[in-house]
Amino acid sequence: MADTRRIGIFGAGWVGLVTGGCFAELGHDVVVRDIVPERIEALRGGTLPFHEPDLPDVLARNAGRIHYTLDAEDLGATDVLFVCVQTPPTYSGDADLSYVWNALDQLPRVDRRQILAMKSTVPVGTGESVRAALEARGLVNVGYVSNPEFLAEGTAVRDFTNPDRLVLGAFADDDATVVEALYSGIEAPVVRTDVASAEMIKLAANAFLSTRISFINEIANVCELVGADVEDVAKGVGLDHRLGPHFFRAGVGWGGSCFGKDVSALKQLAGNSGYHFQLLAAVIEVNELQKRRVISKLEKHLGKLRGKTIAVLGLAFKPNTDDLRDAPSLVIASRLLAEGAIVRTWDPVADARGRLRGAQQCDSILDAVTGADAAVIVTEWPELRDLASAEVREAMARPLIVDGRNVLDPAKTRAAGFAYEGIGRGSSPFAALPETAEPAAEPPVRDSGPVEGGWENREVPPAETASARTTRKPR
Ligand code: UGA
Repeated sequence: MADTRRIGIFGAGWVGLVTGGCFAELGHDVVVRDIVPERIEALRGGTLPFHEPDLPDVLARNAGRIHYTLDAEDLGATDVLFVCVQTPPTYSGDADLSYVWNALDQLPRVDRRQILAMKSTVPVGTGESVRAALEARGLVNVGYVSNPEFLAEGTAVRDFTNPDRLVLGAFADDDATVVEALYSGIEAPVVRTDVASAEMIKLAANAFLSTRISFINEIANVCELVGADVEDVAKGVGLDHRLGPHFFRAGVGWGGSCFGKDVSALKQLAGNSGYHFQLLAAVIEVNELQKRRVISKLEKHLGKLRGKTIAVLGLAFKPNTDDLRDAPSLVIASRLLAEGAIVRTWDPVADARGRLRGAQQCDSILDAVTGADAAVIVTEWPELRDLASAEVREAMARPLIVDGRNVLDPAKTRAAGFAYEGIGRGSSPFAALPETAEPAAEPPVRDSGPVEGGWENREVPPAETASARTTRKPR
């Protein structure tokens, strides 16, 4: 067990509460300070302002060691102060550091040494600016350590307690040693760097994860054209130990509050420093286009979408969270509404009622798909693994499933009487090579390759022709 320290947290948001709760679990005394009275009140009463698995238990278990406050003076007795405030993008795409500067303004003046540890994701150079600001205010006894968080929503407690690495960038080595000691009890490689490098590690990690996803999404799009299956391709490529299998799932694009913000911030940071980061510009554009490809997949089967009813299944930007920030579902649903479609949504926890004017949020999957011309899987909630059921087929006006996360088995889904469109799941190489005569023994051309002359000229397997294209069930 580590020496027990007193830890302060600026910001009772998601990062702050996970950090505070997990440090309390390690035996430290924690003071969490926020400026929103209702939030502090709710936390004192045991209510969390968001959905994060395991966190309520961690906070409840360690309630005796966590103190919630509105008063920054309560942080005066702490040894290390973690800055866990938001750094949203500004209109220019730079990170808005005003919450960080507000936290600094509230720093209690104490005689002993305190260490400011930056968890928030900030542009490279922020630590240097903070150091200058502290010196200008005569706060020479305050150290600074960049200690970026690598927590993913839905697995944040596990990510904190089983991290791949701890990154500590400090101006003074002793300060990094103090912060490192707080993690005693956690097994992980420690990377000690200068402050700028630690700041860059966080941005580069998120940028590379996004790049991998945009890359596999582009491979998926080519797979559709040439009759390959991206699921097999990703598996075969990912088994190369130099490449690895993670963050290689094709889909409707990445979302969430971090990737978009951090990729733009890094691109902007490079631009402000005189370097055009071409690759990241493409990574962002590929992701924007990927969300919109769902529309053309629907049009391929349904023609114009005006007046068609589309069930959008899953709203959160990924499962196990209720977070809708930068969620692909919002872009997809908004595009559908703009095309004149009737949009019915479902999600087990996320609520988009305030954000999608004109869409109808349903309480159950069955309710959402009833009378629908198509169902689109946008978030891979476990409940959707059973979507291709007889009950759903019966309820839909046309049994068409666009599987934006490749969660269903194409063959089983088709056998259950649905028309199926995944992401990057070509089915016959002959669909991609119009000049190649298809041998008689081959199955008929399936629905995922391109055909000259567009969709209307395509050969469709009989089951799909009958179900998805011509037999529209009465409402
Ligand atoms: C991400 C990083 O994974 C964390 O390491 C980081 O600490 C965090 O940002 C942050 O900067 O705070 P998060 O945004 O919670 O975490 O979510 P991810 O699990 O990374 O997923 C991001 C998006 O990528 C989701 O929309 C997900 O559906 C998508 N994704 C992920 C794919 O499309 N394919 C994949 O293979 C993996």
